[in-house]
Amino acid sequence: MSGHQPSLFGDADTAADQAVVHFVPDFAGWQRAARAHLTADVAPQAIWWQPDPDHVAPAGQSARAARSATVPKRFIELARAAACHSAEDRWALLYRLLWRLTHGERHLLALAGDADVARITRYAKNVRRDVHKMKAFVRFRAVDEPGFTEPRYVAWFEPTHHIVEYAAGFFVRRFSNMRWSILTPERSVHWNGQGHADSAAKPWFGPGAAKHDAPDGDDLEAAWQTYYASIFNPARVKWNAMRSEMPVKYWKNMPEAQLIPGLVQAADRRVADMEAVQKDVDALHCGPRPATPEATTRAETRARPAFSLERLAGEAALCRACGLCGPATQTVFGEGPANARIMIVGEQPGDAEDLAGRPFVGPAGQLLDRALAAAGIKRGEVYLTNAVKHFKFTPAGKKRLHAKPDYHEVAACRPWLEHELALVDPERVIALGATAAESLLQRRVAVTRERGRPIALGEREVWPTVHPSYLLRSNAETGPGFERFVADLRAAMA
Ligand code: URA
Repeated sequence: MSGHQPSLFGDADTAADQAVVHFVPDFAGWQRAARAHLTADVAPQAIWWQPDPDHVAPAGQSARAARSATVPKRFIELARAAACHSAEDRWALLYRLLWRLTHGERHLLALAGDADVARITRYAKNVRRDVHKMKAFVRFRAVDEPGFTEPRYVAWFEPTHHIVEYAAGFFVRRFSNMRWSILTPERSVHWNGQGHADSAAKPWFGPGAAKHDAPDGDDLEAAWQTYYASIFNPARVKWNAMRSEMPVKYWKNMPEAQLIPGLVQAADRRVADMEAVQKDVDALHCGPRPATPEATTRAETRARPAFSLERLAGEAALCRACGLCGPATQTVFGEGPANARIMIVGEQPGDAEDLAGRPFVGPAGQLLDRALAAAGIKRGEVYLTNAVKHFKFTPAGKKRLHAKPDYHEVAACRPWLEHELALVDPERVIALGATAAESLLQRRVAVTRERGRPIALGEREVWPTVHPSYLLRSNAETGPGFERFVADLRAAMA
C-alpha cells in the first residue's frame, strides 16, 4: 500500500490508507469516477470502490476528465460487459486494468494468460451468456391495460448478473412497436412501443419487482407449448447439451418447458418408432416432398398474421412431434372457411391426401362429398381436418397401406386440432370414426352406440358418426349404411 490518499474530488472518504470512492454502480458511474482518479494519478491499490446507487457525482468529476486517457476499444467493450457482473471485485479489477493499460502496458489485453485479463474476459463472457439467456428465455404474457386496445406484454426473468440495462437495447429493437415490460428482482425496464424510428425514445427503468407482479399465463401460453412440442425432435435431444443451453433454473418461467418431462419420457420410444418406420420406408417412394419445407415454410409462416390458420398450417408443416413425419410426404392440414359453423374431423390423411397435401381428396373423401351433397351441405362451407395430420402407412410392395395411428401419435397431433378448434370456433364438430371422436372428447367412444346425437364439448357439440372408409370397406357406398351416414350428417346440421 502506497500510503494514505487525500480525499479526492470532494466525494471520497478515507478508510485506513485507502480513499473510499463512492460511485453509481454502473459502467457510466464507474467510468466517470475512474477517469477522474486516473487523471489525478491515483494508483489502483489506493482506492476502495464503494458502490452507491444514490451517489451524485461532484461538479469537478465531469464525464470528460481533463486528461482523457485513450484505451483500446476492446477494453471498453470488455469493461461494459464485465461491469454488469455480480462479482464485487469487478470495479477494482476494471480500474487496475485501466491503470495498467495507461501505464506502459498498452498491449496487455493480448496476454490471455495474465490473471487480470483472464478474469475480465471471464466476467464479460458470463455476462454475455446471461444476456443470451435473457434474449432466448424471456416469455411475454399479454396484459390488458386501461385506455389501450392493444395489451402490454409483460415478462418475468431472473438474471444472474446486473444485465437489465445492458440487454434492454435488444428488446427495444426487436419489439419496437409493442408496449412491453420486463420485470426482474432487481430492475424493471419498460417500453411504450414508440418504434425505433424515434431515435430520441428511450426505455425507462424502474425498481425490481416480485414474480407475482408478472402474469403467469395468457392465450399465448398454449401457442408456445404447441410450437415447442411440434419442434421437439427426440432424435436430436442431447440432454447434457440441452441442460447447459437451457439451464433448469429458467424452466419455471417458460410455458413450453413444462412439457419437457413428458416429452422426455416419450422420447426414447418415439426414436425407436422413427427408426423402425424409417427402415421400412427407405426403399419406398413417397410423393415428391415440398422443396426444403423448412426454408420456405419458416419464412412464409413468419410473414403471416399471428394466430391465423395460415400461420398454424405453416408451423404444422414443420411438425416433428412424432415419428410419422419421416415417412409421410407432407403435413396435411385442415382446409375450409376460418369462420365455418361446422368442422368435420377425420382420422388421418390417406395415400391420395398425403400426395396432394389436402384432406379428403381420395376415395373416402369422394364418398364424403357425395354424402354431404345428399345431406344438403356444401363442402366449401365446412372446415375439414383430421385428428392426425400425417399419413401413417405400412409398405406393401409399391403400395402404402393405411395403418391406424396409435395413442401417442394422436396425442402428439392434438395441439394442432385444438388450435384449429380455437381459431375456427365452430358450433358443431362432426367426428368421423373413433379416432376423431376420441381425440376430441378425450375418452373412449363407441361410435356405433353414440353416433347421430350430440355430445357436449364445452360450448360446442360433437356429433360422432362412422368414417366413410368404414362404408367403403363394408361395401356400403349406397343403401342403408350410406343413408344412415347421410342422416347423421343431416342431424348434425339441423
Ligand atoms: N380419411 C381421413 O380420415 N381423412 C382424410 O383426409 C382422408 C381419408
